Amino acid sequence: MRVLGFITKRPIILSLVLGLIVSSLSYFFQPLFPYHSIAHRGASAYAPENTMASFQKAVALGFDFIELDIRMSKDQELIVIHDADVKRTTNGEGFVRDLTVDELKQLDAGSWFHPNYSSEKIPLLSEVLDTFGGKINLLIEMKFPENETNMTEKLAHTLYEYFEQGLDPSTVKVQSFHIFEIKKFHQLCPEVSAGILLSKPLDMFHLASYRSFASFLAVHYRLLSKSLVNQALFFDYEIYTWTIQDQPLFTVMQKLGVHGIISNQEKKKTSKFTVD
Ligand code: G3P
Ligand code: CA
Repeated sequence: MRVLGFITKRPIILSLVLGLIVSSLSYFFQPLFPYHSIAHRGASAYAPENTMASFQKAVALGFDFIELDIRMSKDQELIVIHDADVKRTTNGEGFVRDLTVDELKQLDAGSWFHPNYSSEKIPLLSEVLDTFGGKINLLIEMKFPENETNMTEKLAHTLYEYFEQGLDPSTVKVQSFHIFEIKKFHQLCPEVSAGILLSKPLDMFHLASYRSFASFLAVHYRLLSKSLVNQALFFDYEIYTWTIQDQPLFTVMQKLGVHGIISNQEKKKTSKFTVD
């Protein structure tokens, strides 16, 4: 009571305390916007990343998208793997670009995660498209396309082959940190939504000019704020965020109003306020 009396007799402190209460309450009651759940390298908290097992797990868990990374083999095939070299996620050694598909297919891409996955192989993009195209949406990240001969052209060409066989272009999105390659991809394949991965802020001028070829921004969660979301929405971008691992961050991102959350795991449905 004495504290209350102290505060109410001091208008400045009182207004500060009231402001704090109002802003906390308004955050608490902010709506939780629905979002696309995007399984980062597949459902990679539960199965080895970027393998058919992790993609299968994402489908089983009901994710809306799988996110996957592509690189090129020595014989110019599109390969699904995150790192430039195979050491971390297989029992082999060497750079992906120095190994042929036959050599890459010898490797065990699952035992590093758990012995149960010892039969997992590094997938080709075509294998992922064959098995998962049309079953779940795909978010394909081109890894360092600027360092590869014709990765962007090869991806566009490959996707068109699948579109001709009936795959719906609206079920595929392509992203990269390399803005020029995303621009090139959009020119080659305008039917597919293309996006820019961001780990640094973009000014309004660049936000405006990139919108002619990019329809979404995939933003590192530490960079996201209400003002960045509002700027992106002003230019009609979709906003995805990566890589959300802590459960409370799902709620923070939903309150910011992002369209997609890229995560290795599901959001646990513990809160009665959750709408998705
Ligand atoms: O989709 C965004 C995210 O995948 C980018 O980071 O290193 O996991 O490919 P990284
Ligand atoms: Ca990625």
